[in-house]
Amino acid sequence: MIEFKGTKTSWGLIAKLFHWSLALLLFWQVATGISLHNMEFSPFKIGIIGTHKFFGTLVFSLVVVRLIWKYMFNTHPKYENLTLFHKLVSNLVHFLLYVLVILIPIQGTIMTWLGGGDVFLLGIIKIPPIIEMDFILYPQALKVHYYSALTLTGLFSLHILAALYHRLLIKDKYGVWKRMAFRRQKV
Ligand code: HEM
Ligand code: HEM
Repeated sequence: MIEFKGTKTSWGLIAKLFHWSLALLLFWQVATGISLHNMEFSPFKIGIIGTHKFFGTLVFSLVVVRLIWKYMFNTHPKYENLTLFHKLVSNLVHFLLYVLVILIPIQGTIMTWLGGGDVFLLGIIKIPPIIEMDFILYPQALKVHYYSALTLTGLFSLHILAALYHRLLIKDKYGVWKRMAFRRQKV
């Protein structure tokens, strides 16, 4: 039977769809972001910036809906047997990941306005700029955007390593991997 909502041992199908689609999108955002960082100005770069902005607003929208689902509708799996230290660290990393994936798109939007560009939510709805163009502040905002993205990359690398540690090294004895996996394979 398909479990749409979470159970004691699973986050549920809806949360898994949010989790894995967001993971894919973030790989894309970081890959395009790092490429932009190393690219000379060109029509190709402008094209990449366009897709980067589109997917960045998609990340933001998905995270908002995911958090509404998580805290207003879903039930959460239990962290039985895990040590308090494990629980605290994983909750802290999850919290910081959420903070960054909310703040980076907002900051990217403000940065785009400082650079004189427009931002369309999901490529459709124009967000009215709340800040004037400013070519002095723009390079500083770009630096903040870059270093926040690097921090996000560091944190989600840590998160992936922890997930792989559970899956491969300790054979998922606490069922942490299984909670977010689509297939309930034996590990
Ligand atoms: C979680 C989502 C995002 C990540 C991880 C991310 C990451 C990055 C990174 C690493 C760069 C390269 C910065 C540099 O050149 O030093 C970049 C560039 C850029 N980002 Fe984002 N970004 C995200 C969301 C957004 C959003 C939502 C917008 C605006 C709607 C945006 C607008 C831009 C623009 C315009 C640039 C190019 C700036 C330039 O080269 O002049 N980003 N992004
Ligand atoms: C290949 C990449 C990834 C793998 C293998 C992975 C693996 C996992 C696993 C196994 C869990 C369950 C942990 C638990 O129940 O305590 C989980 C939960 C979670 N993951 Fe990931 N993850 C990946 C990418 C990401 C990314 C990029 C983010 C960034 C937002 C993220 C954010 C979260 C959050 C916030 C949770 C807690 C559950 C929730 O709030 O929905 N993950 N991840």
